[in-house]
Amino acid sequence: MKNKHLVSLCLLAAVCAGPVRADDVKDLIKAKHCYDCHGDKSGKVGPAFRDISRRFRGLNNAKTMLVRMVQNGTDSQAVVYHWGASTMPPGEVRVPVSQAEAEQLVDYILSLK
Ligand code: HEC
Repeated sequence: MKNKHLVSLCLLAAVCAGPVRADDVKDLIKAKHCYDCHGDKSGKVGPAFRDISRRFRGLNNAKTMLVRMVQNGTDSQAVVYHWGASTMPPGEVRVPVSQAEAEQLVDYILSLK
C-alpha cells in the first residue's frame, strides 16, 4: 500500500506538518486491530471512539493520557476510570503501537464529534 510507506517515512523523519488524512489513519486503525473492539460511533467490547472523544476532549492532559493508554491498555491499577467490566489489554498482547502511531490514533479519536 503506497500511502502507508509514505506515512511511516513521515513519522520516522517527523517532518510531516499538518493533519494526516483520515484514510491513512483508518488504515492504521485497521492494521492495529483497534476496530476489533471499538467502532467509530458504536461500542463493541470497548467504548465507541466518539464517546471516548466526548468524554475527554478539552481536558488538558487528554492526549498524553490516552496515548499512554493506547500503548499500555487499562489493566494497570493506575487506571482509575473504567467504561465497563472489560479492560483494554496491554500492547504486548495486541499489535504493538509506537509512540508516534499512538499520537496519530489519539488525534483521530479526539477529532470525532
Ligand atoms: C481486545 C480489545 C481491544 C482492542 C484490540 C483495543 N481496545 Fe481500546 N479499549 C478496549 C476496552 C475494553 C476499553 C475500555 C477500558 C476500560 O474501561 O478499562 C478500551 C478503551 C480504550 C480507550 C479509552 C481509554 C480510557 O482511559 O478511557 C482508548 C483511547 C482506546 N481504547 C483506544 C484503542 C486503540 C487506538 C486501539 C488500537 C491500537 C485499541 N483501543 C484496541 C478494548 C480494546
